[in-house]
Amino acid sequence: MTIKSHVYVDTDSIITSLDKRIYGQFIEHLGRCVYGGIWVGENSAIPNLKGYRLDVLNAVKAIKPSIVRWPGGNFASQYHWIDGVGPRDKRPRKFDLAWGQVESNEFGTDEYIEWVRLIGAEPFIVVNAGNGSPEEAAAWVEYCNSTKDTYYANLRRRYGHSEPFSVKLWGIGNELWGRWQVGFCRDAEECGWRTVEFADHMKRVDPEIKLVAVGVDYDTEWNVDMIRIAGEYIDYLSIHTYIFTDRQGKTYEDLVAWPIQIEKNLRHVYYTIEQTRRKYGIKKEIKIAFDEWNVWYPEAQPPYLEQITSVKDAVFTGLVLNALQRLSRIVPIATFAQTVNVLPLILTKEDKMLLTPQYLVFKLYTEVEEGNVVATDVISPHYISKELEEVVPYIDASAIYAQNKVYLFIVNRHPEENAEVYIHIKNLKPSTIQHKYVAGSSINDKNVFEEPNKVGIEEKAYAFREPVTLPPHSVNLLIIS
Ligand code: AHR
Repeated sequence: MTIKSHVYVDTDSIITSLDKRIYGQFIEHLGRCVYGGIWVGENSAIPNLKGYRLDVLNAVKAIKPSIVRWPGGNFASQYHWIDGVGPRDKRPRKFDLAWGQVESNEFGTDEYIEWVRLIGAEPFIVVNAGNGSPEEAAAWVEYCNSTKDTYYANLRRRYGHSEPFSVKLWGIGNELWGRWQVGFCRDAEECGWRTVEFADHMKRVDPEIKLVAVGVDYDTEWNVDMIRIAGEYIDYLSIHTYIFTDRQGKTYEDLVAWPIQIEKNLRHVYYTIEQTRRKYGIKKEIKIAFDEWNVWYPEAQPPYLEQITSVKDAVFTGLVLNALQRLSRIVPIATFAQTVNVLPLILTKEDKMLLTPQYLVFKLYTEVEEGNVVATDVISPHYISKELEEVVPYIDASAIYAQNKVYLFIVNRHPEENAEVYIHIKNLKPSTIQHKYVAGSSINDKNVFEEPNKVGIEEKAYAFREPVTLPPHSVNLLIIS
């Protein structure tokens, strides 16, 4: 049996031009993400470039993240940046209050900036608004961005960087509402005023920087207070969503229904932002930075948070990326948690590296460099997700139109059936299709070190004909011209 569906692409209805920051990444000083995953040091037997692991460097480059968030996560709420600059052998070894580990400080601001430059990404630094101070955050902005003859700018020069790093995007704290955070806020009021103080200090040093304040995906009151108090100072509200897969009775059907809920939540957060701006006369435009998102399995326990995800998580990832394309007017920034070894896209073991099916999905989505996200409609059979009480179409689609080509991303959620898809495109008489997809042979297929290429990207090219057949549990890129 197959499921039959129709996908309509309206190339005249432009949602927005593609903002590649939606395919961003997040790295944290946590487990083996930075140490062992990104940084091995120059003397390591693992092939490296100036201390950066080469295999990981190349794999990350291949998914072209245009933005990378650092240094946390929870780690940020107790990190004192000054410990991580200057001669490496003189940097203090500190106890990391967030994760209970030893932080060598070998990888600090300079190393991070060099790494993002090597992979061609923009930096996005989260300052310590937990047990740090506004003054410390302002000094970090000065170290990174100032051209003046002042102490911290000169410190950067002394450490070998005459030119500023020009870090445009800064986060003020991480999940400050969470009791697990070092220096959490008692409530949104307190957090709002703390954000104002930090923003004020940081912008006095560099008025051009853009700021991300802490928000919550399910707490409207928090978001209202934050916008009401700090609205004129900030540019983005940070939202995090993890889908915890250990909830009783969560099925594959529930997992792949969640992106619908995520899309609704993000639209609701934006609605709250807009209502609050209107009510309090806030002129500043504020959008969403969805700067931590992923699935989270019970095996991913602190302090390593390691897991190996499978095809079902790739399907989830494709669906979230489709949603992010559709949302990119209001959610122009999203960073996946996390890139290497922690809830990872990429896993390393000594000198070996493994690419998860989720990584392969990022590879598909980041193929398109520029274009317009255009409106799509889908007619598809549905099922009901019990966990979410949601009516879920088996087929989900999103499209980018660029230079007379349509890059059509279609996910077939069905766990067993092929999908026969009839494609209708306005303003294009299609003649050929390049079809790339990630499906594996079952929803539980994964790449493991013993069998690293079990799931791959399949590729075919054919003359345009209808219907196009898509395998079960598949994430597809159809380049139609
Ligand atoms: O990504 C792992 C952790 O999850 C981050 O440190 C924190 O922000 C979130 O709770």
